[in-house]
Amino acid sequence: MKVRKAVIPAAGLGTRFLPATKALAKEMLPIVDKPTIQFIVEEAKASGIEDILIVEGKQKRSIEDHFDSAPELEQNLEAKGKASLLKMVHDTTDIGVNLFYVRQPYPNGLGDAVRLAKSFIAGEPFVVMLGDDLMQDKIPLTQQLITEYEQTHASILAVKKVPHADVSAYGVIDPESEVHKGLYNVRKFVEKPSVDEAPSDLAIIGRYLLTPEIFDILDHQKPGKGNEIQLTDAIDELNKTQRVFAHEFTGKRYDVGNKFGFVQTTIEYGLTHPEVQDEVRPYLLKLAAQLKAEDEKKAAKGK
Ligand code: UTP
Repeated sequence: MKVRKAVIPAAGLGTRFLPATKALAKEMLPIVDKPTIQFIVEEAKASGIEDILIVEGKQKRSIEDHFDSAPELEQNLEAKGKASLLKMVHDTTDIGVNLFYVRQPYPNGLGDAVRLAKSFIAGEPFVVMLGDDLMQDKIPLTQQLITEYEQTHASILAVKKVPHADVSAYGVIDPESEVHKGLYNVRKFVEKPSVDEAPSDLAIIGRYLLTPEIFDILDHQKPGKGNEIQLTDAIDELNKTQRVFAHEFTGKRYDVGNKFGFVQTTIEYGLTHPEVQDEVRPYLLKLAAQLKAEDEKKAAKGK
């Protein structure tokens, strides 16, 4: 069956970005000028996804309004002859996929958010895409997972090597064997293991292709780490009754779910953004030289 549907869970509390996320979904925070959720919707579209369900929390309005028309703004831009800005605004509405929304009443975890998509998915294979991770590669990561699915007809998670010290921030896989380069059979999926107990450094990143049987498990899934219903636990359960593979992503991953990653991503996107790249690069070089001089001065004083 063709993979046509995606779920974007966007109902987390986003506590790492407070106070910005007090009244705004974390997925609406922009990288330079584009909300992270728009990057995700664009990746879905580029991968052939037709229907997307966005799971929203209390900050519902901001996401729905972003992808809706904005008549007053559009009239204003038209009257002022700002054609390119007007196109940019239209592009967020004519985004080329159908968007649907559901609300998660309590932030009980990623597994709970995905569970709410059961009737929308209606027995089809589907992808889960997290706004925390922006991916760059020649072929979109979601498309890569779909291509693997077309061969295996099994669930496939995207993984990437992370520094060993960071494993406890992720779901981690225990790889059993390599089916072909970059595709693993998995013994176990472990949510946020301690550094000592982590079975590998291959961390689950924010793209999952799942078969609909995951919902039978999520319906009965007990809370795990952090007292939340963990998608990783349900996937580990699924792996006991049908194959679940891991696909190693070799492209560039930007982790925008934590503050430092967000700052890094903003800088790197700024370096290639057509409107600011000519200023960002010389600025960074000047700043780096200045910081180096300061460090040298400090070191000389310390001697
Ligand atoms: P995170 O744990 O990264 O998001 O969840 P969070 O809880 O919002 O962030 P912090 O840790 O408090 O800063 C991963 C993804 O799952 C969604 C989040 O919106 C994020 O995209 N999520 C998480 C839900 O939709 N519902 C939940 O109950 C939890």
